[in-house]
Amino acid sequence: MKDSAMSDDNVRDQKTTVEAKAPPMDIPLQECVGVGRLDPCTIVIFGASGDLTSRKLVPALYNLYLNDGLPKPLIIVGASRTALSHDEFREKLKSSYSATGNADLSLWNEFVGNLFYKPVIYDSLDSYKELAEFLRKLDQEHKVGGNRVFDLAVPPSLYPVIGEMLGKSGLAQEGENGNGWSRLVVEKPFGRDLKTAKELDETLHRNFLEHQIFRIDHYLAKETVQNILMFRFANSIFEPIWNRSYIGYVGIVAAEKLGVEMRAGYYEHAGVIRDMFQNHIMQVLAMITMEPPSLFEADLVRDERAKVFRSLKPLDRSKQADDLILGQYGPGIIDGVEVPGYRGEPGVNAQSLIPTFAMMRVFIDNWRWRGVPFYLVSGKRLAKKMTRVVVQFRRVPHSMFRNVLGEEILANRLVLGIYPQEKITLTFQTKHPGARSCLRPVTMDFSYDQNYSGPKFEAYEKVLLDCIQGDQMLFWSDNGVRLSWSFLTPILEECETCDDRGARLHPYHSGSWGPDAAKRWMKLIIDEP
Ligand code: BG6
Repeated sequence: MKDSAMSDDNVRDQKTTVEAKAPPMDIPLQECVGVGRLDPCTIVIFGASGDLTSRKLVPALYNLYLNDGLPKPLIIVGASRTALSHDEFREKLKSSYSATGNADLSLWNEFVGNLFYKPVIYDSLDSYKELAEFLRKLDQEHKVGGNRVFDLAVPPSLYPVIGEMLGKSGLAQEGENGNGWSRLVVEKPFGRDLKTAKELDETLHRNFLEHQIFRIDHYLAKETVQNILMFRFANSIFEPIWNRSYIGYVGIVAAEKLGVEMRAGYYEHAGVIRDMFQNHIMQVLAMITMEPPSLFEADLVRDERAKVFRSLKPLDRSKQADDLILGQYGPGIIDGVEVPGYRGEPGVNAQSLIPTFAMMRVFIDNWRWRGVPFYLVSGKRLAKKMTRVVVQFRRVPHSMFRNVLGEEILANRLVLGIYPQEKITLTFQTKHPGARSCLRPVTMDFSYDQNYSGPKFEAYEKVLLDCIQGDQMLFWSDNGVRLSWSFLTPILEECETCDDRGARLHPYHSGSWGPDAAKRWMKLIIDEP
């Protein structure tokens, strides 16, 4: 089929901008999240001496504190192997927060009054019993009610260990031994394939019930990703055309300028498919394609997202090379500076065959989407950091203008910008002013923060608040994770075991838009290459 919408329908002439006006919506943070209704609790962060705690978790909690967005009281307990006193821990966090450049230390001294540290040995049951005792004392002193969030900011190999120990020490049980509710926050990656994800789930489920487990995907916590559901299901004009009859193809792209940085140890075992596709790209795909649930409730929404993964058409092994292009960045120039290739990065094997770029064409085998290609792209060291969804509509079925304008009329395109611009643009045709009959594509443009100056949540702030509220809407469910791995595991196995693994890995220059082999598809979703 020569799908008319598959040619480069991209609209380049975007000179005219029509602004969509939105009513002012400055809602105070407390009203947004119902802070008054948040239960007092203790957040125990395992891996407290690590990077994630000082760079993301504690700054997120402090920002919420600055905006009066946390329950009262909220106690934070850092737990890790390193021996630190409470004060040393507080000082360490203060110096890394101060180094962020835009630090506001006005309430820091007050904030750290609720911050404590407890050394733990991750695989020692006695150590967890001591932790339990420590938490009980804090409960009594601060009247926290025994409610606890356990955040696993540790390497994935420790998830089952800590999960098991929390279970054995009684800390996972809700409503017993002075416990209130008990929740476990698990970072990605959740397993490295279907088998390991199942094993991890089995261990966690031996100790926690599903409603207690919060599997993070920070993309779901992005405002613009959440907005996809509002855009689709709170308007009546888009849903009737949101299907194979009107949409020619969809592109989802998460392009990054950054390289692997100092994460070679992790990335050498992950690669782009585990790092970006298994989680973030799959969730965006689900938000774009899921059916409307009967109510905006966590279980119902998560079920609909999971159904999308179940409907993904498996890639045909024998033709996989047509549907999957893998690449690895070589040296190049980013922002005018020479940068090394992936194999020259610290900690990377000089012969590494790990992909840092992937473009996958997938199909969803259901009534709504049958036959519509979804182009999924992510890569490191590309020309720009850009995250967006492109919905390319089909061309008009018949052109009554063909005698004056020819057959070619560019099709409509909707772009949901996630980064750098958080915006929605819709491009359509208008008459070019003047005596001659000719068309002009124009773009209607809505900026997400237009007419809004209220507080904004960083992804981690949203994730932590939702967990304190017990709201699972923006987290992975167990069957969602399994179904997503069920689709990707055979693809990974094929890529990682095939004889021509090296030949299928296309090199690209850092600062480019990926390998030449992907250009044909990249042209469909990115304006620039
Ligand atoms: C993380 C990946 O989950 O997402 C990183 O591990 C990637 O490799 C990051 O850089 C991208 O997130 P964002 O929000 O910057 O698009």
